[in-house]
Amino acid sequence: MSLPGVLLLAAAGPEAGALVRAAAARGHLVHAATTAAAYEGYGPELKGLLAGRVVTDFAQSGRAVDEIAAYARHRGVGAVLTVNEYLTELAAHLCAELGVPGNDPGRAHAARDKAAMAEAFAASGVRTPYTVLVRDPAGLRAALADLRVGFPCVIKPVSGAGSAGVTVVSGPAGAAAAADGARAVAGMYASGGEAGVLVQAYAAGTEYSVESLTQDGTTTHLAVTRKQVTDGAKRVETGHSLPVDLPPSIEAAVYREVGAAIGAVGIRQGASHTEVIVGGDGRCTVIEIGARLAAGQIGVLIQHALGIDVWAALLDVALGRPAQLAPTACGYATVRFVTSPCAGRLTSLSGLPTVGPGVPFVRWRAALGGLVHEPDTNGHQLGSFVVTGPDAAGVEERADALLRQIRIHVEPHPNGPAQVRPASTSAIAP
Ligand SMILES: Nc1ncnc2c1ncn2[C@@H]1O[C@H](COP(=O)(O)OP(=O)(O)OP(=O)(O)O)[C@@H](O)[C@H]1O
Ligand SMILES: [Mg+2]
Repeated sequence: MSLPGVLLLAAAGPEAGALVRAAAARGHLVHAATTAAAYEGYGPELKGLLAGRVVTDFAQSGRAVDEIAAYARHRGVGAVLTVNEYLTELAAHLCAELGVPGNDPGRAHAARDKAAMAEAFAASGVRTPYTVLVRDPAGLRAALADLRVGFPCVIKPVSGAGSAGVTVVSGPAGAAAAADGARAVAGMYASGGEAGVLVQAYAAGTEYSVESLTQDGTTTHLAVTRKQVTDGAKRVETGHSLPVDLPPSIEAAVYREVGAAIGAVGIRQGASHTEVIVGGDGRCTVIEIGARLAAGQIGVLIQHALGIDVWAALLDVALGRPAQLAPTACGYATVRFVTSPCAGRLTSLSGLPTVGPGVPFVRWRAALGGLVHEPDTNGHQLGSFVVTGPDAAGVEERADALLRQIRIHVEPHPNGPAQVRPASTSAIAP
């Protein structure tokens, strides 16, 4: 009997690529649902691995479900996955439509829309920052005057990702511009309609994410990841490291909140990435949850540090087969993101590490001669590399040393003096 087909919603990017390779290596026919424009950007390796594609418009979700479901039925698809934050809700509806393992379609919206998420968390008793949805300047003023919000506060888009349009606001002066910035962020497949932005209480503490896999409603937490972000108004990721060993009482508190968050948004078959802040008092606040594997090479970190084949595990869950989630290694891994010191034109790059022992992954995204940004969203990263090894201190030290060797030359805009600087290391935690 032939194996069921596997369908990915959006197959671009390293995580989706790894899933496609894993599924094809196991002998599945792999299909992609994609927009016409995105398919143009798929590389030859990816196109060669795909058995077929269905071109659709993800912004028209009802029609997209119908079109993809018709294609999937015709091609014998038995598993639907996505690693794309913007498509997790569509994936839940499609799984339900096809009768394959997936998340609760009735709750999937709450994993995408942060206003609905805040409500779902509150209803399930998940500790989360006090959140107000504002739709106009009067609403913004009222939210800023609400003592449950206070300063600093965070202004963010309702359904953004990659930290785009997220601003930590220290006083009333910057709030209107931050709200405009949040409102201007259009989601990847935005169909319009939501004009509001969120004003949220600021949770102080140390930021982690928890990578989990839920199968038949039972959740396994694969790792706690230390999330390294910049300080200041724009919180952009500079790296991730795992596994973090939290003190048992804090770990228990974190897992309690994360488990409740997973239930609140109806994740019952698949990965989740939950971002939390642990305060000085040891209490855990959930910032947000994604019904998908983490981005930012966290899957690669899990694979190398813990020896868990996350791609195989994701496939097994999607196919309704028991997933192998026990660690087979006890190492440590970290990723560093390379950012530009300023906005301008990237004129040279040197010192990028190469893949070799202890460096399993290197990715460079920015084109030489192309425009680069001062990072204010995660999408402005120029590249990244992963370092792995047996102990945390050695791995972090090596990653910092490798990052310092990278030299990028950016001609700033407009007509300012050229700058040569090591890639930004200032925000990387010791
Ligand atoms: N309420 C909050 N309190 C403290 N910090 C916050 C809060 N909300 C957001 N942040 C900071 O801003 C970052 C980005 O916010 P958030 O995760 O909500 O946006 P996002 O667009 O979903 O980002 P990403 O896709 O990178 O996770 C967080 O990782 C955190 O550092
Ligand atoms: Mg986030």
